[in-house]
Amino acid sequence: MDAKSRDRITLLSPAEIDCMRKAGRAAAEMLWHVASFLKPGVTTQDLDDAAVAWTTERGHTNGPLGYPNGVGSPGSFPRSICTSVNHVVCHGIPSKKEKLKEGDIINIDVSPIVDGWFGDTSRTFFVGTPPPHAQKLVEATEECLRRGIRAVKEGGRINDIGKAIETYAHEQGFSVVEDFVGHGVGRVFHTAPQVPHYFTGAKRGPRIERGMVFTIEPMINAGRFETKTLSDHWTAITADGKLSAQFEHTIAVTDKGVEVLTLREGDTFL
Ligand code: MF3
Ligand code: CO
Ligand code: CO
Repeated sequence: MDAKSRDRITLLSPAEIDCMRKAGRAAAEMLWHVASFLKPGVTTQDLDDAAVAWTTERGHTNGPLGYPNGVGSPGSFPRSICTSVNHVVCHGIPSKKEKLKEGDIINIDVSPIVDGWFGDTSRTFFVGTPPPHAQKLVEATEECLRRGIRAVKEGGRINDIGKAIETYAHEQGFSVVEDFVGHGVGRVFHTAPQVPHYFTGAKRGPRIERGMVFTIEPMINAGRFETKTLSDHWTAITADGKLSAQFEHTIAVTDKGVEVLTLREGDTFL
């Protein structure tokens, strides 16, 4: 989401978190299903088609389709998933004109709606074998997500997450996008709290409480952190044209600790 939501934080009951477990599991299964179509020559529209087929077969719908743009930016999102290739930071729009080629990196971001609850997860995948610098960026971005998740503690602060992510990203020589943040998620796609992936300094952010469900979704750039938005009002690219990668999980803070909801059956979070 872009950095502007000011809603109140909704704490979910154990029964509601169970609904989010189902949505999160479905999102993870869907993500890997869509990714199984990746190979040189496939278009990003082919991936969107695979996503629509998967949700339709199961009676789910897709959060992105028709999602309204921010204040002052016309046009709702025209596809069912986001596909962000190479220097695209996020919100890439699937297109039959966009053919994937050997060595590309692509973030696939899925957000199915399951019985009224939103699952939200994304990963950056390789098309064939990427050059070593792309591989290093993608691996570091996944590690940023891991470190962000490990920083989540009941009684801690939302701010701890961005601090952990930014510290690691900078150590690796990369920068952290500030124009888009993680977000509370549930029956509403994007709600409070905002979850910055960078260190916000004195503004420590809300305390982390039991019942919170939110995403962490760092976008990490090979060059500078600035982004710009294309004239389609959605596609965000790096201002310097260098590569960007992203990984996203939805997590819940429960009586058993921090639970990653967007894993496939049998997956473990490492
Ligand atoms: N899934 C994205 C997120 O992680 C949001 C996509 S909304 C869209 O928050 F409208 F851009 F598709
Ligand atoms: Co999200
Ligand atoms: Co997402």
